[in-house]
Amino acid sequence: MYTLIRSFVLSTLILFSAAAQAEPIKIKFSHVVAVNTPKGQMAEKFKALVEERLPGKVVVEVFPNSQLFGDNKVLEAILLGDVQLAAPSLSKFKKYTKQLQVFDLPFLFNDIKAVDNFMKSPEGQSLLNSTEGKGLQGLGFLHNGMKQLSANTPLRVPADAKNLKFRIMSSDVLAAQFKAIDASPQKKPFSEVFTLLQTKAIDGQENTWSNIYSKKFFEVQDYVTESNHGYLGYMVVTSKDFWGKMPADVRAVVDKSLAEAIEHGNKIALEKAVQDKQAIIDSKRSNVVEITADQRAQWVNVMKPVWGKFEKEIGKDLINAGINSNK
Ligand code: SIN
Repeated sequence: MYTLIRSFVLSTLILFSAAAQAEPIKIKFSHVVAVNTPKGQMAEKFKALVEERLPGKVVVEVFPNSQLFGDNKVLEAILLGDVQLAAPSLSKFKKYTKQLQVFDLPFLFNDIKAVDNFMKSPEGQSLLNSTEGKGLQGLGFLHNGMKQLSANTPLRVPADAKNLKFRIMSSDVLAAQFKAIDASPQKKPFSEVFTLLQTKAIDGQENTWSNIYSKKFFEVQDYVTESNHGYLGYMVVTSKDFWGKMPADVRAVVDKSLAEAIEHGNKIALEKAVQDKQAIIDSKRSNVVEITADQRAQWVNVMKPVWGKFEKEIGKDLINAGINSNK
């Protein structure tokens, strides 16, 4: 009897100490932007919510500013299990799906409201599964904002950009967009943009107010044209393998927390588009160029034919859903 009780007590103790020692699930979230940006703030909010709701069960480590991986490596790193979460720009998924290129089409979306409509549509939601076949699961979309053009000369009409070198993200649509205005597109990682501009290895770039401000591009560019010619946003992704293996109850909390963090990030995106533009104007380091309706029409006329080149890869239905989202 004594031996029985003793072995019962011992096995219970072992069970309890095993449970006590159970390692929390680690989520490394790697991104390339500054903390004080829509994505940076979304990541911080996600960490706070998850760790508050799943204490000791899930730990989130956030690595901003390309500290861990640049965007050119992060998706591979997810598949290798070196990081669990990332939110690359929608322009950086070319190797994994061609459909997300829809977001790069110049002048497809009039504003963030239109992008929102599109993302919530059945066509937009289906894009979260567009990388599934390659082992990546989209968990949600996050906004940054509309893109602006910067250079050391004022860009009012497409001819002003002729022969200038522009840094672009790794997107063939963006390359075609700059070729359409007789400029020279240069695919470069985000982490290199400031130095490339500072050393004049490139002449200009396109980005959102928040990225231009937080990465100080405005300090090394004399002009920023308020062109709103394209959209920059993100897909939050994980590996299908990691997501599938997470216990269902934990996954539900992580998923809900991410949705709330994205909502928070989207709110910040709208605020930053206004605040960071104003901060650039106030800095007096760079001039913000406003274009007339007629000048804008010239950019539209030259850039919009790019759509036709990618219609087959992206799909006409998706492009039409994008067009309809402006209504
Ligand atoms: C980002 O916002 O994540 C980076 C965008 C870029 O590469 O320009």
